[in-house]
Amino acid sequence: MSNDHGAFVDPQRILGALTAPARDEPESGIIQVFNYGRDREGIIPMWVGQGDLPTPKFIYDAAVASLAAGETFYTYQRGLPELRQALAHYHAGLYGRPFDAENFFVTGSGMQAMQTVIQAVAGEGDEMLVPSPAWTNYPAPMRLAGVKPVEVPLDFANGRWSLDLDKLFGAVTSKTRAICANTPSNPLGWVMSADEILAIRDFCRERGLWIVADEVYARFYYGPGAETGALPPSFHDVCDPEEQFLMVNTFSKNWAMTGWRVGWVQAPRAMGQVIENLIQYNTSGTAAFMQRACITAMEEGEDFLRQQVAQSRAGRDIVCSALRQVPGVRFQEPEGAFYLFFSVDGVEDSFAFARRMIDDIAVGMAPGPAFGPGGEGFMRLCFARSAASLEEAMDRVVGWLKKR
Ligand SMILES: Cc1ncc(COP(=O)(O)O)c(C=O)c1O
Repeated sequence: MSNDHGAFVDPQRILGALTAPARDEPESGIIQVFNYGRDREGIIPMWVGQGDLPTPKFIYDAAVASLAAGETFYTYQRGLPELRQALAHYHAGLYGRPFDAENFFVTGSGMQAMQTVIQAVAGEGDEMLVPSPAWTNYPAPMRLAGVKPVEVPLDFANGRWSLDLDKLFGAVTSKTRAICANTPSNPLGWVMSADEILAIRDFCRERGLWIVADEVYARFYYGPGAETGALPPSFHDVCDPEEQFLMVNTFSKNWAMTGWRVGWVQAPRAMGQVIENLIQYNTSGTAAFMQRACITAMEEGEDFLRQQVAQSRAGRDIVCSALRQVPGVRFQEPEGAFYLFFSVDGVEDSFAFARRMIDDIAVGMAPGPAFGPGGEGFMRLCFARSAASLEEAMDRVVGWLKKR
């Protein structure tokens, strides 16, 4: 609607005056379904990637105390020195070797960590390789930066996902700047083997490519030895922090802090000023009071994190054993993260299927094609929820699927 200032411009012309990447980037497929169903009575939300617990009090108390102490001013672009130190300490504890605080940079979420990394290593006309199906928020920020995401499909055969390294390396062109590697994978729950990680590292070293690793689900691991603390194979195991290696991570998942929007990048020290500038010219830093809560999460949050992982492991068992009863449903049991990615025979339009599921049984899942073209016919559910909620959801879903 126009006001009386006489300068009304037709909405189509407004859109026409935008840059093509901003105008043409489609809505996230996950958010599309989320918006369709978020207000439904009795909905069980398994569409987005988060648990059902709010941030624990001992973590947010640290933010409250910081606010009360007047920490409300502009702060360090690279992150509070104490948080960068806590990050180094946390990684040293996990990976059993020293890490340097100078390699860590605090960002406004894992999403922004990814955006920062993209801006640092690739630009107009460049390409980045993304094994797919992949988290929806890789290709979009690449396109917005003028970078072409080249999705390399994983294969799904006999109920298992596999990455064909020849296909991955064969997709490299003279424009390729980086290989992105998300392990454990969202949405697949698939975990890259140590050999695959090493092969990617060697290939990238030889070709002068960046490794952009995303291990935000590293703590949510159910593979061999996990119950006694083993971690999944990691790029941290084989990469030198001072090589062309960037790691994206977040506080969101481990400590039930998705709404806080704090993450981090690990990057070579030589990039310190560059990352500082990218942060300065994007957000100008992450609120100090939130960073105080992140320090507490890392220093005191291990028990809480372990409970979350135990709940996810139990959740995985509940959803897998329920869906195994349904003929025509196929999936690989997740070894990590907290998603089950399953196909349903006969489903040709996962978006329509997701909407029907909301309408019929009030269960919210993300449609597979939101994670790339190879996802059609698949659905992703998040099992980081209480057993009672998952059992209720699976009762509804299994009965509904069997009646189809
Ligand atoms: C693989 C992966 N990387 C990064 C993120 C970023 O998380 P956030 O932006 O909440 O920090 C997510 C969130 O779902 C994710 O699934």
